[in-house]
Amino acid sequence: MAELALRDVVKSFGSSTVIHGVSLEVRDGELVVFVGPSGCGKSTLLRMIAGLEEISGGDLLIDGVRCNDVPPARRNLAMVFQSYALYPHMSVRENLAFGLENTAMPRAEIDRRVGDAARLLQIEPLLERKPKALSGGQRQRVAIGRAITRDPRIFLFDEPLSNLDAGLRVQMRVELSALHARLGATMIYVTHDQVEAMTMASRIVVLRLGRVEQVGAPLDLYNRPANQFVAEFIGSPRINLLEGRLAPSGGGIRVAVPGLADCLADVDGGGAAADEAVTLGIRPEHVVVGQGGLRATVELAEQLGSESYVHCLLPTGARLVARLPGQASLRRGEAVALDLPARHCHVFRHAEGRPALARLGP
Ligand SMILES: Nc1ncnc2c1ncn2[C@@H]1O[C@H](COP(=O)(O)OP(=O)(O)OP(=O)(O)O)[C@@H](O)[C@H]1O
Ligand SMILES: [Mg+2]
Repeated sequence: MAELALRDVVKSFGSSTVIHGVSLEVRDGELVVFVGPSGCGKSTLLRMIAGLEEISGGDLLIDGVRCNDVPPARRNLAMVFQSYALYPHMSVRENLAFGLENTAMPRAEIDRRVGDAARLLQIEPLLERKPKALSGGQRQRVAIGRAITRDPRIFLFDEPLSNLDAGLRVQMRVELSALHARLGATMIYVTHDQVEAMTMASRIVVLRLGRVEQVGAPLDLYNRPANQFVAEFIGSPRINLLEGRLAPSGGGIRVAVPGLADCLADVDGGGAAADEAVTLGIRPEHVVVGQGGLRATVELAEQLGSESYVHCLLPTGARLVARLPGQASLRRGEAVALDLPARHCHVFRHAEGRPALARLGP
């Protein structure tokens, strides 16, 4: 078992607080991804878990035991960094065994663990090489191998793939997911890449300015973002946003967006007042092109081969991107009709901390 809990964890550097009371449970065998923009506190949180950074307030529990003051070596966690941190003068084999050799572990056990990790990561032919004779992806495998040989309770990864080129990142992402499935280990993975978060995570934790914005399974975050920040952070191309107002409608509330008279369904006001300014969000794949009551002009059609991103300008000056399958034959300047199906629209309130409004209509 390897579970972890953060209870109202705070981190301050001098007078500046960078983590403002984060609470979170990581269950045994989960791969939890911390994601968020640069400076939001991902690494700081991970370093506090590892014991590399003191915890200013709150509790860190590993398997139910408070570990705030347990030194890093006794937490039995392994961390893999962006900058592999391999020992340049040691062979791959020595790098993998490092950390085990100054324990009481018998030689045969060390050799077995090094052999198992090398096999798992397919680096057996490289065992006698020095790190400088390895490619970036091979070095990253050795860094991961060094974590595996320690058989830690929890693996901690801080942007381990960000030094690799795009193709290798995708390959290593798949390999890491497979490794997680095979080891069944508890892992915490930090990235600012929302695609890595979406594809690898059991659950995603979205952070912003040292606070948790939302925690959930990848598709829950994608389909039901708690607020505009999460909606914008998860998904590529980015969710479309249009400014609107709430208008009274029968017993409920309706969203009114200029140029979009009756396209939108009622929403559950949840205490919102009529005339409150809101932002309407719709993902590019949900914008219907070629029918509907919204007039627009094509500004640009980006062809990716398997799909097209159609950038549209509305008469109000607002812009929308539609994502169409295949190779859309639309040209710059062409007039198009758009529809924004109500069931796919999110309604975000402006006030800080206000949740997205639930949709009532079809
Ligand atoms: N030793 C330190 N002293 C003072 N401030 C620090 C220290 N380490 C981090 N910070 C600040 O804490 C905040 C969070 O930093 P952190 O490195 O955790 O961000 P991050 O989410 O990992 O960002 P990135 O994606 O760029 O790696 C930042 O504002 C950073 O400047
Ligand atoms: Mg970082």
